[in-house]
Amino acid sequence: MPKRILLAVTGASGPHYAVALARALGSRNDLELHIILSEAARQVIALESDFTPDDILRHATAVHDEKNIAAPPASGSWQHAGMIVCPCSMASLAAIAHGMGTNLIHRAADVTLKEGRKLVLVTRETPLNLIHIKNMLAAKEAGADIVPASPGFYHRPKSIEDMVNHLAGRILDQLGIENALFTRWGE
Ligand SMILES: Cc1cc2nc3c(=O)[nH]c(=O)nc-3n(C[C@H](O)[C@H](O)[C@H](O)COP(=O)(O)O)c2cc1C
Repeated sequence: MPKRILLAVTGASGPHYAVALARALGSRNDLELHIILSEAARQVIALESDFTPDDILRHATAVHDEKNIAAPPASGSWQHAGMIVCPCSMASLAAIAHGMGTNLIHRAADVTLKEGRKLVLVTRETPLNLIHIKNMLAAKEAGADIVPASPGFYHRPKSIEDMVNHLAGRILDQLGIENALFTRWGE
């Protein structure tokens, strides 16, 4: 059975990262890519990029509706090799940190944690208030990995695409998915 990866895209700034992840994951035939887009993510895509939701969704093996809490990712019996929430809004971080399974993204994240599977939260906000920081701590303590969307410069990016791909590659590293999206330090 190919590995399944679940990518949830929420309404934080930076849907560009989700496009890069969807392209990289969708191009592999050893993976199934399942995608959920929040309603806010659709708005943010339109407001801050030239992408459309389809630039993410067309790479999916299956797309699940955020409102469909009966979709496969809502159950722990539906196995996967990791869930990425990218970008992850502070609203979704709060919902996940507090076990609020009120939409499919939050429910799938809750299930991922309860099953002891890998959950990567690519949080994006600045500056952070104490609530955000406490929610990150709670999510981390519950087993999630917090991978803030904070671009580095040590690889000397020449373009926004370089910066986006660097973070996308580091996210895939978290799931142990080989990728050549960026040049590693020392290479
Ligand atoms: C253009 C735009 C950019 C936004 N950027 C962020 C952000 O970087 N971080 C964040 O936490 N919320 C951000 N928001 C607010 C979220 O979209 C909002 O809290 C929403 O309810 C999140 O819902 P979701 O987590 O279900 O996607 C942004 C909203 C807009 C319209």
